[in-house]
Amino acid sequence: MGIASPLNLSRRIFSFVIITFIFLFLTFFPGLGSCRAEEEARGIKEVSCVLCPRALSQSQGLELGSGIDDVPPYFKTEPVRSQLHLERNRLVLTCMAEGSWPLEFKWIHNGTELTRFSLEYRYLIPSLDRSHAGFYRCIVRNRVGALLQRRTEVQLAFMGSFEEGERAQSVSQGEGAVVPAPRIRSFPQPQVTWYRDGRKIPPSGRIAITLENTLVILSTVAPDAGRYYVQAVNDKNGENKTSQPITLSVENVGGPADPIAPTIIIPPRNTSVVTGTSEVTMECVANARPLIKLGISWRRNGVPVTTGLSDFNRRLTVLSPVASDGGYYECEATLRSSSVPSVSAGAFLHVLEPPQFVKEPERHITAEMEKVVDIPCQARGVPSPDMVWYKDAVAISPVKMPRYRVLAGGSLQVNGLLPDDTGMFQCFARNQAGEVQTNTYLAVTSIAPNITAGPSDSTVIDGMSVILHCQTSGAPRPAITWQKGEIPHRKCQS
Ligand SMILES: *[C@@H]1O[C@H](CO)[C@@H](O)[C@H](O)[C@H]1NC(C)=O
Ligand SMILES: *[C@@H]1O[C@H](CO)[C@@H](O)[C@H](O)[C@H]1NC(C)=O
Ligand SMILES: *[C@@H]1O[C@H](CO)[C@@H](O)[C@H](O)[C@H]1NC(C)=O
Ligand SMILES: *[C@@H]1O[C@H](CO)[C@@H](O)[C@H](O)[C@H]1NC(C)=O
Repeated sequence: MGIASPLNLSRRIFSFVIITFIFLFLTFFPGLGSCRAEEEARGIKEVSCVLCPRALSQSQGLELGSGIDDVPPYFKTEPVRSQLHLERNRLVLTCMAEGSWPLEFKWIHNGTELTRFSLEYRYLIPSLDRSHAGFYRCIVRNRVGALLQRRTEVQLAFMGSFEEGERAQSVSQGEGAVVPAPRIRSFPQPQVTWYRDGRKIPPSGRIAITLENTLVILSTVAPDAGRYYVQAVNDKNGENKTSQPITLSVENVGGPADPIAPTIIIPPRNTSVVTGTSEVTMECVANARPLIKLGISWRRNGVPVTTGLSDFNRRLTVLSPVASDGGYYECEATLRSSSVPSVSAGAFLHVLEPPQFVKEPERHITAEMEKVVDIPCQARGVPSPDMVWYKDAVAISPVKMPRYRVLAGGSLQVNGLLPDDTGMFQCFARNQAGEVQTNTYLAVTSIAPNITAGPSDSTVIDGMSVILHCQTSGAPRPAITWQKGEIPHRKCQS
C-alpha cells in the first residue's frame, strides 16, 4: 500500500465509505432499480434508495421523451425596451438565448413574421429607414419548447420638412396671441426656436413658449405685429430646418388701458409619465390686463403647491415623479387688487409604473396527468397590467382551449392535464409603461414517482455480496439514487 496507484487513490477517496455499490439498473424491468453492495469492511447500518426529482432539479436535465439532457430554451439577456437609431445606419438585433442544440430563431416586427425559423440568431437591417420603426421580438425554439422574447422598440431619428407655406393671423390688442409652431414631422420632437426679423425671441413675462412650442404673446400691443418664424433642430440627427414666416397683425379694439379679466389660454393637459423619468412639467398660460397684476397659483388635489414653479408660475415641474405625485393639478389665474373673478383650469397627472412580477412560477413544474395545475404569475404596475399567457410562443386563447383558464390574479389554471400540455409556459405582464415576461417548463407525468418497495434489512457475511432492491413507480420512470445514512453516494443529475 505504499505507492499511490490509481487503485489505491480511489480506495483512499472511498476509505470513509464502508461499502461501494455497483448499480445494476435492470432496464428490462421498468421501475425497478437494484443495487449490489460489496462489503469491504464491517458495520453497515442503513442503506436507502431515494428518488431523484429529475424534473424539478436546478440543473437543466429533464426527463422527457426526447432525452434526459434536453434543456428548454432560456434567455441569457433580454433586449433594451427601446433604442433610437439614425436613418441609413445598420441595425443588428440579437436573440440571446441558450438551451439544447439545435436552437432555431424567428423574428417578428409589429406582430408580423419577418423570417422563418432558422439557426440565425441575428436579424440584420443593412440600412434603416422609417418603415423599420416599431416593435421587434424573436421566438427561440428547440425540441423541448419555444419562447417569445420581450419586445424592443426601434425608433428612428428623422426630421421632415415644414408642411405649411406662409400664413397670417390676427389678434385683438390686449388679448393673447396664440401662434402654433408650423408643423414638421420629427422624432424626437425638435428643439424649436422662435425668431422675429432675424432675432431670437426669448421667453419673458409677456412671451411664453409652450411645451408644444406654441408662441404666446400676452396682452398684445400694436408693435407685436410682424413676421415670425421658427427654426427646428433635431438634436439626435443634427438636422435643422427653418419655417416659412407667419404674419401677425394686431387689431386695435377699445382703449389701450382697459382692464381685461383673466382667461386661461393654454390650460394644463392630461399628462402621463413613467416612473424613472427625470421630470414632468404641467403648464398653464393665462392672459389679463394689466399683465403685471396677473398671478398664477397651483393646487394639487386641492392643496396649494409652491415648489417646482418657474416661468412666471406658468410651469410646474415635478422631479423624478413617483406614483404619489399623480393627481389633479389645477392652476388659478387672478388679477390682483381687482374685483374681477379669478379663473381656473386643471388636468390629471398620471404616473405610470412598468409591470413588475410579485409572483413567478418555478423554472420547472411537474404535474400528474388528469390533475389540475395552477401556474402562478402575478404582477403589479400602474395601470394594473394585463396578463397574457403563451405556450411554446403561441398565445393561449381560453376561448379555444377551455381547459386553460387565467385566474383573477393572473395565474394560469390547466384542467385535466394531458401529455401534450408539456411545454414552455410564458406569462407576459403588459401595460402602457412596458412589458415583462417570465416562464416555466411544465412536465406532465402520467404517474407520480413513488417508492413502492424500498430495500429490506439484510444481514451479510463479510466479503459476500448483497443485492438491495428499490422498486419505484412513476411515469416517466423516476431516477434513483442510493445513499447510506445521510451520505448520497451518487448525486441526482450526475
Ligand atoms: C410598427 O409600429 C410602429 C409603432 O406603432 C409604427 O410607428 C410603425 O409604422 C409600424 N410599422 C409597420 C411596418 O407596421
Ligand atoms: C443648419 O444646417 C445647415 C446645413 O444644413 C448648417 O449650415 C447651419 O449651420 C445649421 N444651423 C444651425 C443653427 O445649426
Ligand atoms: C383627463 O383625464 C380625466 C380622468 O382620467 C378624464 O375624465 C378627462 O376626460 C380627460 N380630459 C381630456 C381632455 O382628455
Ligand atoms: C407510494 O407507495 C406506497 C407503498 O406502495 C403507498 O403506501 C403510498 O400510498 C404510495 N404513495 C402515493 C402518493 O401513491
